[in-house]
Amino acid sequence: MESFLTFIGRFHPLLVHLPIGFILIALLLEFNRSKFKESEKILKFILFWVLLSVGFSILSGYFQYQQEGYLWELVQEHFYSGIVTLVFSTGFYVFLQKQTILNRLPRSFFSLGLLFSLIVTGHLGGNITHGEEHLTEPLEELSSTLFGNEEESKTVQLDEKNYQEQVIYTGLVAPILSKKCVSCHNSKNTKGGLQLHTFQALLQGGKNGPVIDYENTKESELFLRIHLPKEEKKHMPPKSKKQLTKAEIDFISYWIELGAPQDQTLEQLGTARALIEPFFSKEENRFYPELKLDAPNPETIKTLIAENLLIAPINRESNSIKISALNIPEFENKDMKLLDGIRSNIVSIDLSYTAVNDSIFELLSGFPNLVQIKLNHTQITGEEIQVLESSKHLKQLYLVETELNAEFLQLLSNFPSLEQVFVFQSKRNLSHEIELSPKLNSIIEFGAYGLPKLPSDEVIY
Ligand code: HEC
Repeated sequence: MESFLTFIGRFHPLLVHLPIGFILIALLLEFNRSKFKESEKILKFILFWVLLSVGFSILSGYFQYQQEGYLWELVQEHFYSGIVTLVFSTGFYVFLQKQTILNRLPRSFFSLGLLFSLIVTGHLGGNITHGEEHLTEPLEELSSTLFGNEEESKTVQLDEKNYQEQVIYTGLVAPILSKKCVSCHNSKNTKGGLQLHTFQALLQGGKNGPVIDYENTKESELFLRIHLPKEEKKHMPPKSKKQLTKAEIDFISYWIELGAPQDQTLEQLGTARALIEPFFSKEENRFYPELKLDAPNPETIKTLIAENLLIAPINRESNSIKISALNIPEFENKDMKLLDGIRSNIVSIDLSYTAVNDSIFELLSGFPNLVQIKLNHTQITGEEIQVLESSKHLKQLYLVETELNAEFLQLLSNFPSLEQVFVFQSKRNLSHEIELSPKLNSIIEFGAYGLPKLPSDEVIY
């Protein structure tokens, strides 16, 4: 019996289209009565079917509510407006029988009443299946595309400078919940008896008790709900709503697995950079400019790999590549010819520990998109470095442990994009050998300290 009722209930979304069609045709006829001779008879006939189909829709809807565990508060308005639709259609039908008590009311009371109850019921029903913002969401998205606040629609924006000090709950978890969950889980709208607008409220849990299980973190209701397949009814947020991104799911899971801490910072928790990488604003992440490049010729790549060069794209989608001759100590200037076919694809080149000399600068100036050049542990003195002034993307130069002549650092003053030049030499202190302009001084790192860690340093070739 149970499964029979479930079966009937499942027909609800299909069945409801019948009364919608019947009512619309009835109303069309009603408003064009004068055009048809037999309109009253036909109208009665159609209304009979309206009655029947509305009745069945309500019944099947009720079964669906019962069998599939919808919350009553979610469906009650839809249910009542369905009943109202039934009342209006019955009323209209009786009205057409003439000489009843209902004929004291104006005819339009029934026709317009039926029209409004149909619209309201249909709309409320749609909200249940598709979510309340089903209609307005595309408009919001349209406006954010038009006015370009896409970045702002990110839940969390971390800052390179102080991300380590972010408190895990207030800095990351709360903004994510706020954006994707709180609309249905707050003190006014408490779906499933759960509030997520404050930490305390979250700890209270929902109608089925706590949503964090400290013993078995991965069994936490909150954890399970966000990991269920989107098609599952219990998946959160409901599938019609803006979903959590993969990074958000991963981060919330991480937080739950830690036992849902409130006050610790990312630094104290030792949060892995990879877990929060997606939350950094794109601008700051963009060390390499976005270049429209053709894919590098696979044959050339093969040859280079055969020559023992290390090659990797800067990321999976990119045609920009990083190249390193670190494995080839005998690599010299003339070997740069190997790279001819892919010169514009190369954004980072590492010629450290090779046999190149100062003429390498001239050759490198033929690589239009270089952002990073590493010439550590080579014999360069910097004499011809000025030719690189034409490299408009060049941001970083590594000249550690070379024959660098400090005087030549002056030649860097008009490089358009240069941000950092590393010149540390263990046997001498270049900063004592030269007086530089403040601008150059801020770019050049003489430091007797280790090189700062860069995201690119973690790439495994
Ligand atoms: C469109 C409204 C809506 C949004 C948005 C929403 N939920 Fe829900 N949530 C519900 C409804 C309705 C229920 C009750 C029905 C159920 O248990 O599936 C519920 C129940 C829950 C429950 C179970 C509570 C209990 O004790 O049974 C959890 C946990 C939950 N939601 C977490 C979340 C999380 C986390 C998010 C955001 C990622 C979220 N919800 C977003 C509507 C929503």
